[in-house]
Amino acid sequence: MKQAKIVGTGSYLPQKILTNFDLQNMVETSDEWIVTRTGIHERRLAQENEFTSTMGLAAAKKAIDDAQKIPQDIDCIIVATLTPDYIFPSTACLIQHALGINGPAFDMQAACSGYIYGLSIAKAFVENGQYKNVLIVASEKLSSIVDYSDRTTCVVFGDGAAACVVSLEGKGLSIDSVKLGASGEYADLLILPGGGCRHPATHETVDQKMHYLRMKGNEVFKHAIRNMESAVRECLADLHLEESNIDWLIPHQANKRIIDALAKRFSHLSEEKVVQNVISKYGNTSASSIGIALDELRKEGKVQHHEKIVFTAFGAGFTWGAAIVTNQK
Ligand code: COA
Repeated sequence: MKQAKIVGTGSYLPQKILTNFDLQNMVETSDEWIVTRTGIHERRLAQENEFTSTMGLAAAKKAIDDAQKIPQDIDCIIVATLTPDYIFPSTACLIQHALGINGPAFDMQAACSGYIYGLSIAKAFVENGQYKNVLIVASEKLSSIVDYSDRTTCVVFGDGAAACVVSLEGKGLSIDSVKLGASGEYADLLILPGGGCRHPATHETVDQKMHYLRMKGNEVFKHAIRNMESAVRECLADLHLEESNIDWLIPHQANKRIIDALAKRFSHLSEEKVVQNVISKYGNTSASSIGIALDELRKEGKVQHHEKIVFTAFGAGFTWGAAIVTNQK
C-alpha cells in the first residue's frame, strides 16, 4: 500500500522577542496574569521587512534540505495561512517563485488547523500519484492583524513559520490517519471582520478597527478542548488503536490551559510526552504552531523508531483536525 510520509521538516522564528514585561508597558496586564492564564512568557515578532512569504520560504528551505531534496524535486506547494502577503496572488505563488521552481501552488485557509488540513491534502496528492513531493508551508505574521491596544488578544499571538515535505519515498513519519472537522456556526467568535468583500477597506472600517482580529477567548476555549479530543479519538478508531498506543501528543499551541485540559484526557502520557514548551516561547502562532513543535521535537532526537505522534488543532471557522503519524527511521 502506498503510504505518504513527512520526510523533512523546518521552521523559522523571527529574532525579535516581545516579552510579557514589554506588554505590561503597552496595555493594562501583568506577566503573572499572562503566564497563569496562557502559559506564554514571550512571543516573536516579524520585522517590517519580514512577511508570511519570507518566513515561510526560510522554513521551506530547511524542510527541503532536511528531506535531502532540492527545490526542483518539489512538484506542488500548499501554504496554510490566515495572514497571506496579499489576498491575491497567493503566498504559495510568491514562495514558488522565490524557490525558482514550477508546478501548482495555492493557499489554503483553515486558520489554526491549517497544518493538519495541509497534511490531509498532501497525503491524498502523493498517495493517488498526482504529485511526488508536496511542500506544505504554514506561516503567519499575526502581528499584522493584532491590535496591540487590546489586552485580550495581543498577549496571545506571535509570528513564525513551519514547513514539511510529504512524499512516498524516504525515511520519515508515515501519515497513518487524518481527520478534519468544521463548524461555521461559530464564525463570529474568532474573526477578522474587515478587508474581505463583505467589509472592504474604508475609512470607517479602519476607524472601527475592523482590520484587527477579534476573539471571544473564553468561548473558543471550551470548543477547542472538546473538538480536539474527539478528532484524536476519530483517528484512533480509524486505525483500531487504543489511547495507550499514543507515544507523543502535539496539540495546537494556543494556550497552556487548553493543552493541560487535553492532556488530562490522555492521562497515560507523562508531562514530557505532551509538547507544551512552544506556547511558552512563541505564543499562539496559528497554522504554524504544530509544525514548529514537530520540527523542534524531531531535531531534539527524542522520538524513537515506531513511536506514534498525535497532532491536533483547533481554530477559527471553527475548524479542527487530528493526525496520527508513526516514526519510520
Ligand atoms: N491582562 C489582564 N486581564 C485581562 C487580560 C490581560 N491580558 N485579558 C483579559 N483580561 C481580563 C478580562 O477583561 C476579564 O476581566 P473581567 O472579569 O473584569 O471582565 C478577565 O480578565 C477574564 O477574561 P476572560 O476572557 O474570561 O479570560 P480567560 O481566562 O478566558 O483568558 C484567553 C483569556 C484569551 C487567554 C483565553 O480565553 C484563551 O486563551 N482562549 C483560547 C484562545 C485561543 O485558543 N484562540 C485561538 C484558537 S486557535
